[in-house]
Amino acid sequence: MKRVAILISGGGSNMVALAQSMTGAHPARPCLVLANSADAGGLQRAADMGVPTAVVDHRPHRGDRAAFEEELHGVVAAHRPDIVCLAGFMRVLTEGFVGRWRGRMINIHPSLLPKYRGLGTHARALHAGEAEHGCTVHEVTPALDDGPILGQGRVPVRADDTPDSLAARVLEMEHRLYPAVLRRFAAGDRTPIHLP
Ligand code: GAR
Repeated sequence: MKRVAILISGGGSNMVALAQSMTGAHPARPCLVLANSADAGGLQRAADMGVPTAVVDHRPHRGDRAAFEEELHGVVAAHRPDIVCLAGFMRVLTEGFVGRWRGRMINIHPSLLPKYRGLGTHARALHAGEAEHGCTVHEVTPALDDGPILGQGRVPVRADDTPDSLAARVLEMEHRLYPAVLRRFAAGDRTPIHLP
């Protein structure tokens, strides 16, 4: 059985979708939910599901990313995960951390990569007049929102969409895509998934 650590920064709705999917014949189980702030709402949701939680606050390390990543690595490694899932983890990770988890760390990003790396993806897709938008799960490499694509989920953009309405539609797709990709990835299958 593979062990999965999930790193979050906020409400953790993707974390919940991942954790809830890891039951029965699923080849993995959650071993840790870690947030970079004690305020992250997802911590309580993880605790309610009986998943161990931890906080590694980035703020005491402000200006020293290497020190933050060293502490982060120590706490994550102590839980002996086989796979690390970034699920709305809003800290940029450098080679110092990424290199140690290479091939074992995946991320979900709210756009159809390679389009719209970084933040504000929904507003940028609307501004560009896209007819469709979506989300991507990819292996994490040191380059931001880059790395081999493991799955993409597409949603239509509607004429009356706002960034919020579009984000909500994409988030629903994220909750389908990320568990589907993790299930395959945990079984050693990196064939990309395309939804719907
Ligand atoms: C999700 O939409 C995720 O794709 C995005 O943050 C949100 C987290 O929501 N991630 C990024 O933007 C990473 N750059 P959640 O906490 O409810 O899962």
